[in-house]
Amino acid sequence: MTIPRAAYPAPFNTTRSSHVVLRVKDIAASRAFYVDAMGFIVSDEDKNALYLRGIEEACHHSLVLKKTTGSPVCERIGMRVYTEEDLEKAKHYFERAGLQAKWAESPFQGKTLHVSDIIGAPLEFCATMDTKPRLVVQFKHHHGACPQRIDHFQIISPDVQRACEFYSGLGFRLSEYIAVDDTDELLFVFLQRKGNPHDIVFANGPGPRLHHAAFSVPDASHILQACDIAGAFGYGNRLEFGPGRHGPAHALFVYFRDPDGHRIELFTTHYQMMDIENEPVRWDLSYMRNRPWGFPARKSWFEEASRFLDVELREPVKKSHPMTLERFLVEERP
Ligand SMILES: [Fe+2]
Repeated sequence: MTIPRAAYPAPFNTTRSSHVVLRVKDIAASRAFYVDAMGFIVSDEDKNALYLRGIEEACHHSLVLKKTTGSPVCERIGMRVYTEEDLEKAKHYFERAGLQAKWAESPFQGKTLHVSDIIGAPLEFCATMDTKPRLVVQFKHHHGACPQRIDHFQIISPDVQRACEFYSGLGFRLSEYIAVDDTDELLFVFLQRKGNPHDIVFANGPGPRLHHAAFSVPDASHILQACDIAGAFGYGNRLEFGPGRHGPAHALFVYFRDPDGHRIELFTTHYQMMDIENEPVRWDLSYMRNRPWGFPARKSWFEEASRFLDVELREPVKKSHPMTLERFLVEERP
């Protein structure tokens, strides 16, 4: 295996991860979790949908919740491109690659392109959205964990190498990766366009499935505040992992499961990665058992994730045996 390198110049200019569309059973329950407890800002809502953004975001939405009577799946993940010309280039690129790309209408967004990536994850690209006031210094609107902006998605992929090659072909740069010790067998890849460590992450496992959408918060105190507020609102048992410190990208994090089981990460601290000579940071898999501090994630964090709408699940090319909290407590007990 070789570590993929980003296509340069990119075939079209993807600028960042933009939004995620989740289906939920009960809009009121989702509103209580995301707005009242977590602190997201409502951009628009009706009885069937909730459009949310963070306090720094001037674009209309980064989190869309749609009511469903079916399964609470992920409909799509959204990426931004710079101009509509990039959208046209993207359509041609995907069609030449044998992927069906079609124009779609999405509320509050400009021209939107739907396509599924090489592992079957449904994407949408747009160049513009309606705008809303940026509330970064409108402190009366700050509450809960004060989510600032969407940062990245993590997808569970049945073929991490293939996903990495595909996104590298779109111009995504590998910032960090986890590989089996003494090999280049990729288990986690962290890819970015916007100049920090991640826009999209792929982890090995049955998929494609959405593992989480991640939102930055202002500082470490907001991670603890999120936990306190979640507990006060009765969501203490929805805290799945953390607070803790990741090795890759060094983020301070906490993960919650929403009322439908969708997972979000709140995190703070990321570094810049723009300069072309920067090589990706490698982590050996054995890091997972030798973390500087803190425990590994519980089994559910590794195994459970949101299905994508109407997308078949495939078993991974490589079976992995992650260092779960449960395994760690048995194998590492003194
Ligand atoms: Fe993450």
